[in-house]
Amino acid sequence: MSNNADPVFWDHARRHLVRYGGRFEPLIIERAEGSFVYDADGRAILDFTSGQMSAILGHCHPEISEVVRRHAATLDHLFSGMLSRPVVDLAAALAKVAPGALERCLMLSTGAEANEAAIKMAKLATGHYEVVGFAQSWHGMTGAAASATYSAGRRGYGPSAVGSFAIPAPYPYRPQFERDGRYDWAAELDYAFALIDRQSNGSLAAFIAEPILSSGGLLDLPFGYLAALKQKCAERGMLLLLDEAQTGLGRTGLMFACERDGVVPDMLILSKTLGAGLPLSAVVTTAAIEELAYERGFLFYTTHVSDPLPAAVGLKALEVVRRDRLVERAVVAGARLEKGLRALQQRFDCIGDVRGRGLLLGLELVKDRRSKAPAPELGAAITRRCMALGLSMNIVQLPGMGGVFRIAPPLTISDEEIDLGLSILSDAFAAETRKAA
Ligand SMILES: Cc1ncc(COP(=O)(O)O)c(C=O)c1O
Repeated sequence: MSNNADPVFWDHARRHLVRYGGRFEPLIIERAEGSFVYDADGRAILDFTSGQMSAILGHCHPEISEVVRRHAATLDHLFSGMLSRPVVDLAAALAKVAPGALERCLMLSTGAEANEAAIKMAKLATGHYEVVGFAQSWHGMTGAAASATYSAGRRGYGPSAVGSFAIPAPYPYRPQFERDGRYDWAAELDYAFALIDRQSNGSLAAFIAEPILSSGGLLDLPFGYLAALKQKCAERGMLLLLDEAQTGLGRTGLMFACERDGVVPDMLILSKTLGAGLPLSAVVTTAAIEELAYERGFLFYTTHVSDPLPAAVGLKALEVVRRDRLVERAVVAGARLEKGLRALQQRFDCIGDVRGRGLLLGLELVKDRRSKAPAPELGAAITRRCMALGLSMNIVQLPGMGGVFRIAPPLTISDEEIDLGLSILSDAFAAETRKAA
């Protein structure tokens, strides 16, 4: 019997765990290292999603482990009104790498929590309360973050925050607005904001956006879109909040994805990748916004705000990314991965689209490229087959699109590991499309 089938483990899991979304993999993961996780039979599974899109340095990076060990033994958690060196050092380091005049930081734990803080600060600084997001967004599971999340989880919990609005994210593969046979995202954006202006009570505070909407199907904002969005915000006195949970710290081949567009948001929100898999998030904003919020009594006093241990982890993650030139590595490794995915697309008619940047790539599955009809069963079958062959893949299935594999391996992944993942994917596609034929 496989050790993954341990009846006591599964009996306890069934009886004592709350199920919080989707199904659990029928595996017991005992250990993780580098680009792999290992199950209870010692089987290596290549992790093409860096855990929850977070472990950019791979699992259990020795230098991160060492920081955790040292801080757990010497400086872990403090009264929230106390400061320590890792927190101030990380704030200074983020101010140095962040674009433009983003220089004041708030250190928290999760992505949702940081978005919560950013939205609160935006409301206080503008004196307004309406928040706009994309209809395919994911910003987290708590109050304001959940109110700005439209890709999932809205039903059954009562009213979202008053003044929550959504506009469609640009989606070149399935364009809604066309001019002369070409997708016209600028017309779509104009129309969307005309609708926002009609619905607004005159209290627009902020737009919150991911530069690449990951949970929304890996929708990459076309070049120029972010600048146009910033302009729309400026015209209305709204702040632009950029949620770089998944795109921050080199993943797209730049330190921050917004650098491609030369757009500096009013707040840059980091999480996931900042802690390289451990719980750390940050809001980075301008001195002017921070001063205004402070004068108006900004309150975000949490148990783990400014904790030294996670801040020291973030500082080390940033140091390793820069020292080991992982931003540049994401460009090279991403190109190799993308080339392999495009080669697969040539062979399999069910791969409708390959998109993304650096080491954050998406692959949209369809019945065939001509109809672009979604193929949810095929997506689920390929995901299962990959896991059976030793590759962990993640697929999002949203209405109005095919299933989208989100591929985001650690930035430390080797060429050989990329090729291994591509070869498993190829086998899985071959086996499942043969079955479906
Ligand atoms: C873009 C983005 N923002 C925020 C979040 C929420 O982060 P957390 O789950 O750490 O609260 C996620 C989580 O998937 C995310 O993808």
